[in-house]
Amino acid sequence: MPATVVVGTQWGDEGKGKLTDLLAKDMRLVVRYQGGHNAGHTIVVGGESFALQLVPSGVLYPSTVPVIGNGVVVDPSVLLAECDALEARGVDTSRLVVSGNAHLIMPYHYELDRATERSLGRNKLGTTKRGIGPAYADKAARIGLRVQDLLDPKIFRQKLEVVVREKNAVLAKVYNRLALDEDEIARRYLDELAPRIAPMIGDSVGIVHDALDAGENVMLEGAQATFLDLDHGTYPYVTSSNPTAGGACVGTGVGPRDVDRVVGIAKAYITRVGAGPFPTELDGELADLLVERGHEYGTNTGRRRRPGWLDLVMLRHAVRVNSVSEIALTKLDVLSKLEVVKVCVAYDDGGRRLDRVPYHQSVLHRVVPVYEELPGWEEDLSAATSITDLPRAARDYIACIADHAGAPVSLAGVGPGREQYVHVAS
Ligand code: GDP
Ligand code: IMO
Ligand code: MG
Repeated sequence: MPATVVVGTQWGDEGKGKLTDLLAKDMRLVVRYQGGHNAGHTIVVGGESFALQLVPSGVLYPSTVPVIGNGVVVDPSVLLAECDALEARGVDTSRLVVSGNAHLIMPYHYELDRATERSLGRNKLGTTKRGIGPAYADKAARIGLRVQDLLDPKIFRQKLEVVVREKNAVLAKVYNRLALDEDEIARRYLDELAPRIAPMIGDSVGIVHDALDAGENVMLEGAQATFLDLDHGTYPYVTSSNPTAGGACVGTGVGPRDVDRVVGIAKAYITRVGAGPFPTELDGELADLLVERGHEYGTNTGRRRRPGWLDLVMLRHAVRVNSVSEIALTKLDVLSKLEVVKVCVAYDDGGRRLDRVPYHQSVLHRVVPVYEELPGWEEDLSAATSITDLPRAARDYIACIADHAGAPVSLAGVGPGREQYVHVAS
């Protein structure tokens, strides 16, 4: 069976965790393909909430094998803490497989993430300060340590010695920070963490291909989203990996012909955490209302998310960039009780109408959204179980999204719970 990719179409926090969990019940493997513990994927089952950072969202089903792919960056202490927390709540994490090719987040990555943000001052990106950017930078510079290095203390120490020397020089001379103790890092990673991580390390690429060859269902779970993509996002206000669907191939070792379904997750409005352009951003009362009703605070960092109206120019772009075959719409329930709901269908650039995301980012910073206004709906949607339970106006809203985005909407979320969604045939 070919694989299914789950990808965020906006700036993250669209509800990928919920959707991945929902689809995972029919999957043999769920493979995370990029990012690290900058992600926070929430799953609500039977009133219990799980906020996953590194562990793939399939972990809650005993029949699913969660795999951390080669494209992910892993802080082993965070991974172990997450596994321990899940185990304490009765979730079996023993099936988890971690790719040996995944890169390690090291203590100096955190230091450098904090130091560069501080030195950027008011131009800072607003990163999660989890060392993500510096870890991917080392990967690209070919000086990263990989998960498999934990299995070989001699190689680990050899690599660490060279890297720590360079990092300490940068930390001390450029950022006026204290040097890190190489022996202490080696002791922690090799003596404390490696023995517990070692049994999880496996041939993730082989496992994925064996499952595909056996006709089993495989899902590739993205973190972050299209407009946080290093290549396709609002650079430099992006993360340092490729959340777009192409990244799913690179980050798991699956070729494009092995993917036949790409589920693009879109929130019924938009949020963004951290800095960067946001044409449909709202402020004032309406912003507060969306934030409070939608509980728009970072899953891990607790930061308030910036809210805005749904941007269909962006969604159309995401459908193209990811070859989205269907859209899963989330948080439709949050829009209840608004008199009108607006969607951005184009941008206005000083009198010039733009139907596409401009390739020149300065333009994106200055455009004004062109809105289409649709009638809102009063009804609470949270108990809906079928499309016929939705009021006409909510169904029209869904139809408008599918029409402008150029992909069908297959499902609409009406609450955080696993069972709170309706199938849509648009
Ligand atoms: P992710 O990073 O894309 O997995 O999304 P997050 O988990 O960070 O944020 C999405 C939030 O919305 C979580 O608190 C979810 O429980 C919640 N959520 C997901 N789908 C729905 C929905 O359809 N309605 C409502 N009200 N909440 C939802
Ligand atoms: P999930 O998977 C929303 C944002 C940060 C910052 C930028 C770079 O839960 O959707 P980084 O620490 O990655 O170098 O920060 O990316 N960011 C996210 N925003 N959801 C996420 O993940 C994010 N992961 C990173 O806020 O603006
Ligand atoms: Mg999130």
